[in-house]
Amino acid sequence: MSIETETYSALDAPEYAPAQFVRWFRDVAPYVHTMRGKTFVVGFGGDLVQEERLNALIQDLSLLTALGVRLVLVFGSLPQVNEQLRLKGYDFQFDTGMEPTSAIALECCKEAAGELRLDIEAAFSQGLPNTPMSNAQIHVISGNFVTAQPIGVIDGIDYKHTGKVRKFDITSIHKAISLGAVVLLGPIGFSPTGEAFNIAMEELATHAAIALKADKLVFLNQSTVLRDDNGHIITEIARAEAEKILKEKSIDPHFANLLKHTVKAVRCGVKRAHIIPHNLDGSLLLEYFTHDGIGTMVVEDTLDDLRPATMDDIGAILSLIEPLEADGTLVPRGRHIIERDVEKFTVLEHDGIIYGCVSLIPYTNEQMAEMACLIVHPDWQSAGEGELLLKHTESKARTMGIKKLFVLTTRTSHWFMNRGFIQGTLDDLPKEKQINYNRSRNSLIFIKNL
Ligand SMILES: CC(C)(COP(=O)(O)OP(=O)(O)OC[C@H]1O[C@@H](n2cnc3c(N)ncnc32)[C@H](O)[C@@H]1OP(=O)(O)O)[C@@H](O)C(=O)NCCC(=O)NCCS
Repeated sequence: MSIETETYSALDAPEYAPAQFVRWFRDVAPYVHTMRGKTFVVGFGGDLVQEERLNALIQDLSLLTALGVRLVLVFGSLPQVNEQLRLKGYDFQFDTGMEPTSAIALECCKEAAGELRLDIEAAFSQGLPNTPMSNAQIHVISGNFVTAQPIGVIDGIDYKHTGKVRKFDITSIHKAISLGAVVLLGPIGFSPTGEAFNIAMEELATHAAIALKADKLVFLNQSTVLRDDNGHIITEIARAEAEKILKEKSIDPHFANLLKHTVKAVRCGVKRAHIIPHNLDGSLLLEYFTHDGIGTMVVEDTLDDLRPATMDDIGAILSLIEPLEADGTLVPRGRHIIERDVEKFTVLEHDGIIYGCVSLIPYTNEQMAEMACLIVHPDWQSAGEGELLLKHTESKARTMGIKKLFVLTTRTSHWFMNRGFIQGTLDDLPKEKQINYNRSRNSLIFIKNL
């Protein structure tokens, strides 16, 4: 047999589409990078286990821990407790977990929590055969991390063994998750006198996220999502807006309960809180590794910093633009163009300082718009502000009936590609823009369908 060296040809490529694979890998790389060392608290109800979705969830969670995410897992057990009550011949059933817990119901809570804990530990221990996490060894640590106290008597109703969180053993939890173990918290806490209390999963997860100063709190819920008037899923919502919805709209009570807890977490400093459906395989991965996600994410009301520009902002906009014009990142525009187009600009302001801007130039005939002058001051970069400007511009364009957003860029192509833009050609642009295209700059064209 003779062995020769020859040029690699496209015919040698494996059968699966390599370009697609490479593109996918590059697309998720930024998310992978941002996850290392972040703390996530993930809460789910016993219904997920009942629907036999536990193993799929554990696979996805194992993948996150392999990427360096520090994980605290909080489980609920209402359907299992209700089942126990039914089997024992009791009529009473829990709905939210915040109902009074009798001594009998507490026994059912303990049994259900113990059984679920073992199921979850077993799922993490099975070596995950035939999965991407085959042979991964993940340690699960559960214990008496939660000190509870009784809710007490409210409006004359004695809540008996229903409790709330008094404090967490934060030091021990931090120690465990920093060693790569998953901390598992069940819906039972103990008072310093050794008394057990039934604690709602939502309450426990929210408290844990706040106490741990988590980067994310995630609730997996059955299937409900939040939609706007046009039927689109609201993928991101400011905390203040979510509070308004809770006050003014009539939404599914279980979803409202989760939303209330995400709002509380974000108000108390958790950076992002998500509610995602669990009935879609890989929903956790889709939420993290795709730009828009699939559920609803609540964030602090940073949108307050965004406002339309006025003539008073021209000096500040120019000082953001000028260094980038000087180094060739942006095409020189000149003061008179900015003055003429100022109403097309949005600025980011904090404490009176303009630290970012973007403009949206519509081409209504073609239902297209150009996003231009997207800038975040270097001192504020890499904190998600560019993303905020992009999201704002996208939703502004959508409300104007725009179907495609385009950008011309010489140095920022990957930033746009990571956010769903696809490279286009001059022919894809509106006619007027094609005529004005500056060929000597040879800017790349990126387009996103809205
Ligand atoms: C592009 C820009 C607006 C992004 O603003 P930002 O607030 O830093 O954006 P975000 O925080 O949402 O995203 C930051 C991420 O994008 C990455 N990023 C920044 N510039 C990038 C570029 N040119 N190419 C690829 N990725 C880039 C950062 O490394 C960071 O990744 P990390 O979080 O993994 O570290 C900002 O870098 C900027 O003002 N650049 C100069 C002006 C410019 O090029 N504008 C676009 C011209 S059309």
